[in-house]
Amino acid sequence: MDLVKKVLIEKINKSEWWHVFPRDHDAYTKRGKFFASTFQQAAFYGRPNDIPSRVLIKNPIYGFFEAEILKKLFPETYKDRILSENADSKNWYKKRIALDLAIFRKAKLLGYDAVILMSANGKKYLENNKKPPSIELNLLYPPARKMIVRNKQVKPFLKWVGGKTQLLNDLEARLPDNIKEDKVIDCYIEPFVGGGALFFYLKSKYKINKAYLIDNNKDLILTYKVIKKSPENIIKELQKIEAAYLKLDNKKRSDFYYEIRKKFNRQREVLNYKKYNNQWEKRASYLIFLNKTCFNGLFRQNSNGGFNVPHGRYKNPKICDADNLKKVSRALKGTRIICDDFSLCEKYAAPKTLIYFDPPYRPLNITSNFTAYTKNGFCDNEQVRLANLCKDLSRNNIYILLSNSDPTNENKKDKFFDEIYDDFNIQRVLANRMINCNGDKRGQVKELLIANY
Ligand SMILES: C[S@@+](CC[C@H](N)C(=O)[O-])C[C@H]1O[C@@H](n2cnc3c(N)ncnc32)[C@H](O)[C@@H]1O
Repeated sequence: MDLVKKVLIEKINKSEWWHVFPRDHDAYTKRGKFFASTFQQAAFYGRPNDIPSRVLIKNPIYGFFEAEILKKLFPETYKDRILSENADSKNWYKKRIALDLAIFRKAKLLGYDAVILMSANGKKYLENNKKPPSIELNLLYPPARKMIVRNKQVKPFLKWVGGKTQLLNDLEARLPDNIKEDKVIDCYIEPFVGGGALFFYLKSKYKINKAYLIDNNKDLILTYKVIKKSPENIIKELQKIEAAYLKLDNKKRSDFYYEIRKKFNRQREVLNYKKYNNQWEKRASYLIFLNKTCFNGLFRQNSNGGFNVPHGRYKNPKICDADNLKKVSRALKGTRIICDDFSLCEKYAAPKTLIYFDPPYRPLNITSNFTAYTKNGFCDNEQVRLANLCKDLSRNNIYILLSNSDPTNENKKDKFFDEIYDDFNIQRVLANRMINCNGDKRGQVKELLIANY
């Protein structure tokens, strides 16, 4: 094998070079799987997603400009196929995609597993065992594609009421410009972390130097800590529960669920929450099990703090997602996880810190009273206490982003948030939301994104 090809295969397979793939999934259908080691190339076919991925290639075809690859693939007709950059700009993208497809089909037919395109001067870099200034890797071989799938993003490990998964694009678009450009967040704080949808999303795409995750739900925080410290133990516990539960019929599943719920509620009375012990691992696994099998993934407590959500009816719930739990654990390394009131964020916030507040929603109507996450609820006075804290923090050059329900959905005259955040920039975005407490009515509602920048 020639030296250039050997270096390419070695470096790419060992992930010594950084691969990114475009987030625009249309790019895949238009031209097949596509990887690139530079931001610019991934950007060409869609917004790049900075997740390094492992691939396995054995027999790539490569070239230092496209004509070289075309010549190898189509020796007779390559001259006619060369696409000039100045070609009629209207159809240029279409022609580009068509040419890519032709290249990939022919390369596959000839038994190649990847097409690698580099800049004209790349050869001398490779001959010196260095990464060329630009490199575009297109994978053709199925095992390599499978590996991409396994490298999916880390997801929240719980279904959490008010979870922000569907607002992620809007939230990302509303981040400070310098963070979006540099892809670096020096310090990130989420004082109402819940399921942590935004944190896990950002963690996959941005370099976060320091992070603090806060919530006043002590069982939720305990679960975060257990996953961070001992993912293997919690996976073992959950696998046992999952195997026992899934083999039962509906009636027995329901009995099993209420048995665990009872254990979970009794354990609360005797558990030492202050010091990590193996009962924490049991408790965390109960919480995840209950969350995955209860009605609508709610976490609701009665006035004594007992978890009181009824059994849900999922046919085949994924109770133990071992792969994701390991990823969550890795994502939490170096992150401080704290059970406390949201106001604690003041202690850790320095200038340029990004704080994302996602407090319990102010109910859209009296029946959608999901603000009672824990027995203490979150009333209008609490929303005002939070707004005052945001004003204080704003004076210290801290970036504040906050989301909430928009009361004007229900009552046009209710300008509660416009009033308490009068110095902030308020944007309204649309989201699909559960709009009553039975979870059977969903609709498009306006949500508020409030920022101080
Ligand atoms: C809307 S949820 C957050 C959802 C989260 N963004 C997600 O993606 O899953 C609000 C969270 O605030 C927590 N919470 C309620 N009151 C709090 C307080 N005073 N201090 C800290 N956390 C609180 C609740 O336990 C709940 O997890």
